[in-house]
Amino acid sequence: MNHGSLILQCDPESLARAASMLREGKLVAFPTETVYGLGADATNDRAVAAIYAAKGRPQFNPLIAHVAKMEALDGLVVWNAAARMLAEALWPGPLTLVLPRHPHCPVSRLASAGTETLAVRMPSHPVARELIERAGVPVAAPSANASGKLSPTEAAHVAESLGGAVDAIIDGGRCPVGVESTVVSWARHAPEILRPGGVTREQIEKILGRPVAVPDISMSGEAPVLSPGQLASHYAPRAALRLNAESAEADEALLTFGEDMHVKGGSLRLNLSPSGDVNEAAANLFAMLHSLDAAGVSRIAAMPIPEKGLGIAINDRLRRAAAR
Ligand code: TXA
Ligand code: MG
Repeated sequence: MNHGSLILQCDPESLARAASMLREGKLVAFPTETVYGLGADATNDRAVAAIYAAKGRPQFNPLIAHVAKMEALDGLVVWNAAARMLAEALWPGPLTLVLPRHPHCPVSRLASAGTETLAVRMPSHPVARELIERAGVPVAAPSANASGKLSPTEAAHVAESLGGAVDAIIDGGRCPVGVESTVVSWARHAPEILRPGGVTREQIEKILGRPVAVPDISMSGEAPVLSPGQLASHYAPRAALRLNAESAEADEALLTFGEDMHVKGGSLRLNLSPSGDVNEAAANLFAMLHSLDAAGVSRIAAMPIPEKGLGIAINDRLRRAAAR
């Protein structure tokens, strides 16, 4: 069953060890009341990239940042009154709120998949809470399954699905809720339910005292038709992007990968990974696109990225941005 991951129990020593692994940038799967999460330090770009690599997902679906207390959200997201009401009534619990990123949000832009929003959740499972509290950082965690597989509700499911791709698995028994959290988003003004889950629409409407939209949810369970991953326009930098560039014009910024001495031109050059490592490139991708936007660049030429591992997701992202 165990394909190389360290299996930890829920005693204080094991949780302290798991928390320090998170702080070191390692991947730790842990139980929540909904499903097992594949956790990493949300503020560490490389650790967040490692989550996507472990899941083997061909796209960067945005991730939920998990916290153990309200104060941990200061400076992460921008609140509104309705979101506060839901958080006060339903947290800790199986509810995720998608809110605008705070201007100084320290969470990796990769966890937001390049968008200006961040999903946040305070789980109720005591093991999750103690782990996050001890880690002292927001913990990015998708469900701890390989892409396209069912969400895990027992530690053994995680070991089967992800095996050695995760550094440690905390065995906290079976997840009591067993379905993922309900995702409520303010990305487009009024709240919308992007994914049905452990909290019902009725509960949410009762707390808010008004109806809440549920946009056409796909039957896959892997919700949102409206998730940024599906919306090419939400994904793009302001600058126009040219792919597979062999050189750059004088007025183009250049995004390179690997050894780039031979690539000529570029008013401004940024290297996604000088050593040619696709995980490092994924970790830098959104932060570098944002800094090129911030520098006022209007055209970006990007060198080819190998179509393997996280390179597939990077190329998916760059193609969407270029096609806009
Ligand atoms: O119950 C849960 O939510 C579990 C546990 C581990 O907390 N986590 C989970 O994560 O199910 P994941 O990544 O498997 O699903 C998160 C969902 C995805 O459909 C994703 O697209 C959506 O939330 N999501 C995350 N961040 C988003 C954002 N900024 N905007 C829109 N949708 C977002
Ligand atoms: Mg999932």
